[in-house]
Amino acid sequence: MIRIFHDAEAVSLAAAELFAAEARQAVQARGRFTIALAGGSTPRRSYELLAQDPFHKLVPWQKTHIFWGDERCVPADDPRNNALMAYRTLLDHVPIPPKQVHPMVCDQSPQQAAAAYEALLRDFFPDGHPRFDLVLLGLGENGHTASLFPGTAVLKEQQRWVAEVSVAEEGMHRLTLTAAAINQAALVVFLVSGSVKAPILGKLLKEAEDPRIIPARLIKPVDGGLLWLVDQDAARQLRQRKE
Ligand code: 6PG
Repeated sequence: MIRIFHDAEAVSLAAAELFAAEARQAVQARGRFTIALAGGSTPRRSYELLAQDPFHKLVPWQKTHIFWGDERCVPADDPRNNALMAYRTLLDHVPIPPKQVHPMVCDQSPQQAAAAYEALLRDFFPDGHPRFDLVLLGLGENGHTASLFPGTAVLKEQQRWVAEVSVAEEGMHRLTLTAAAINQAALVVFLVSGSVKAPILGKLLKEAEDPRIIPARLIKPVDGGLLWLVDQDAARQLRQRKE
C-alpha cells in the first residue's frame, strides 16, 4: 500500500503517528514493542517528532526495544553513524531503558560484528523468527534499502539474519539485516521523500525490475504488512491521489 503526502514533513508526521500506534498496539498485545530503525537522512525528522509531545507521552518507551536495520562501519561519533543520528534526535530524549537499545557495533571485523549482532537477535527472538513489530526503511537512489546494495552477495543470503557488506562506491563496510530477516517483520514501512527519489520509486513500483538491480524489491514480508509513506515529489512518476 502507498500513502502519498504533500511534503516530507507530512511523511515524517505520518511515520511518527504510525510508530506510536504500532508501539501501543504491540505493548497491549504482547507486552513489548520491537523496532528496527532506518538510517540515512529521511527518518531524522520522524525521530525528532517522536522525541516531542504528543509522541513523547504516547509511546510506551519503557517497553520499547530498539534495533537497527543497518549501520555503517564508522566510529560511533562519526556523523555518518546511523545510531548516533537516532541517539541525538530521539533516544537521548526519551525514557527508554539503555539496555533496550541495541546499536549495531562494528568493533571487530565486519564478519565478526555481523555474527555478534545476529547472535543478539537470535537470543532476543529464540523461536527462530526475527519478527520485529516494525521495520523502518529508506530507499536509496540506486534502489538499495538498509545496506542491501545492488550487486552485493548479501542479496542472495537466505539463512543469515545479519550480514556484512562491502560498499565499493563508498569505500566502506556496513552491517545490514538481510532481506530474509526483514521479511519476517509484522510490518515494514518505507519512508521516501524528495524528487531525487522519483525515478527509482517509479521503476520500483511500476516495473517488474530484477531485485539484483533494485534490492528494495526483495522486501516482501512473509506474513506481515508493507507500507510506503512517500511525498508527492517522490511519487511524481506514480499516478495516485495524494492524501
Ligand atoms: C543508510 C540507510 C539507507 C538509507 C537510504 C536512503 O544507512 O544509508 O539505511 O538504506 O535508508 O540510503 O537514504 P536517505 O534517507 O539519506 O535518502
